[in-house]
Amino acid sequence: MMMYPLPLICKVSCNMENLSLTQRQQRQKEFLKKAALGTRAIRSGSVSSVEQEHNDAIYATSSFIYGSAQEAASCFSGVTEGNIYSRFTNPTVRTFEQRIATMEGGERAVAASSGMAALTSIFLGHLKQGDHIVSSRSIFGSIVGLFDNILAKLGITTTYVNPADDQAWQAAIKPNTKALFLESPSNPLAELGDIAALAKLAHSHHALLVVDNCFCTPILQNPLALGADIVMHSATKYLDGQGRCVGGVAIGSEELMEPVFAFLRTAGTSMSPFNAWVFINGLETLSLRMQAHCSSALRLARWLQQQPQVERVYYTGLESHPQHQLARRQQRLFGGVVSFEVKGDQAAAWRCIDETRLLSITGNFGDAKSTVTHPATTTHGKMTATARGLAGIKDNLIRVSVGLEDYQDIEQDLAQALSKL
Ligand SMILES: Cc1ncc(COP(=O)(O)O)c(C=O)c1O
Repeated sequence: MMMYPLPLICKVSCNMENLSLTQRQQRQKEFLKKAALGTRAIRSGSVSSVEQEHNDAIYATSSFIYGSAQEAASCFSGVTEGNIYSRFTNPTVRTFEQRIATMEGGERAVAASSGMAALTSIFLGHLKQGDHIVSSRSIFGSIVGLFDNILAKLGITTTYVNPADDQAWQAAIKPNTKALFLESPSNPLAELGDIAALAKLAHSHHALLVVDNCFCTPILQNPLALGADIVMHSATKYLDGQGRCVGGVAIGSEELMEPVFAFLRTAGTSMSPFNAWVFINGLETLSLRMQAHCSSALRLARWLQQQPQVERVYYTGLESHPQHQLARRQQRLFGGVVSFEVKGDQAAAWRCIDETRLLSITGNFGDAKSTVTHPATTTHGKMTATARGLAGIKDNLIRVSVGLEDYQDIEQDLAQALSKL
C-alpha cells in the first residue's frame, strides 16, 4: 500500500473547504447542470432532509404543517413556495419530476397516477370543445379509447393517419387542429414518425406536437430536442423497469405544463409518493438497463429473421426495416421490444406463446423479466377489427419485450416454442 508522508496529508486537509450539507448540495446541483444523461438519471432532483439520508426518502404524508397561520396563508396563496397537500405538492413526487424533466431536456414535469392520466391531463389541459387532433393510427389501444370515447363526447375530434406518411399528416390538418400526437416507435409494429418534420408541421399550424416516448425512454430519444412540445411516458414501463407500479408523466416548458398541472391538481389524478420513490430508483439504473435491453433485442431480432416458422420481424434496428435510417437519426439505440409474425393464424401465435417456459405471458413491457404478448387479443383487443387491420396488427403477431435475463435463455425458450409449430 502506498504511504503518503504525514505533512502532505495535513496540507491537503487544511486547504479543504468546510461546506455545510446545503452548500455541498448546491455545488452538486451546479455540477449536474452539465453532467451526462446517465449521471443526471442517478443524481438530479434529490434532496436530503435534516436526517441527511443518502437515498431519497418517501414523504408518506398527505399534508404539511406551518409555524403560524400567517405562514400557512402565505404558502396556500402562493406568495411563498412550499408544500401544501400531496395531491399536487409532494417532495418525493417532485424529485421524480425534476429528475425526468432534466433527462428529457424539459423545464418542468408533471407526474400522474398513470400514463393514461398524464395523457388525459395533457389533452384536457390544452384542448377545448371544437378542437381537433391528428394522431398516428399506431398508438396504444386505450389512447384510441380516450380520443374516440371521452374526448369525442366533449366535442374534440381526432383524425388518424399512418405515422410514417408525412403527406397524410399534412392532409389531415384542419383549421381547428390544435395537437398532433405520435408514439414513436409504435407499439407493437415499431413504426416511426419523423419527429423533427412533424414538429415543423405542427408549429406552422400553431398546433402542439405531443410525443409518447415510452418505448425509447429519454436514454434513447429526446423528442423535445427534436422540436416536440410535450413528451409523455407511461412510467409503468421502462422508467420503473421491474413491473411494480403504475404511473405517468408529462414533460415540457413551464408554460405548456401549467395547464396540465392545473387539470391534474383538480382532477386528482396525481402520483403517489411511494410510486414516485419506486420510479426515482428505477431511473438510477435506466441507462444501463436500456443498453442491455437493446443489445439483447437486436440479437433476438436478427435470430428470429432466420427462423423458418417466422414470417416477418418488426424491429427498427434491422437494416431491412423501412425506417431504419430515420431510427438511426432520431434514436441512440433501437429499443427493447421485438414483434414478429409466425407462419399461420391466431392459433399458431397462441401455440407459440403457450409453449414458452421462461417468458411471462402479460400485456406489460419494459420489465427486467421478458414478456410475451398477443396484441390482437390483449393490448389492442378493444380496437375494432377494422381499426386493427388498418393499424397492421395481424392475428399471427407476437410481441416480445426482451428482458434482462441471460440472452441465450431467451433465445432458447423461443426456439423450443417455435419448434412446436
Ligand atoms: C405506449 C404506451 N403509452 C401509454 C400507455 C398508458 O400507460 P399506463 O398503462 O401507465 O396508463 C401504455 C400502456 O401500456 C403504452 O403502452
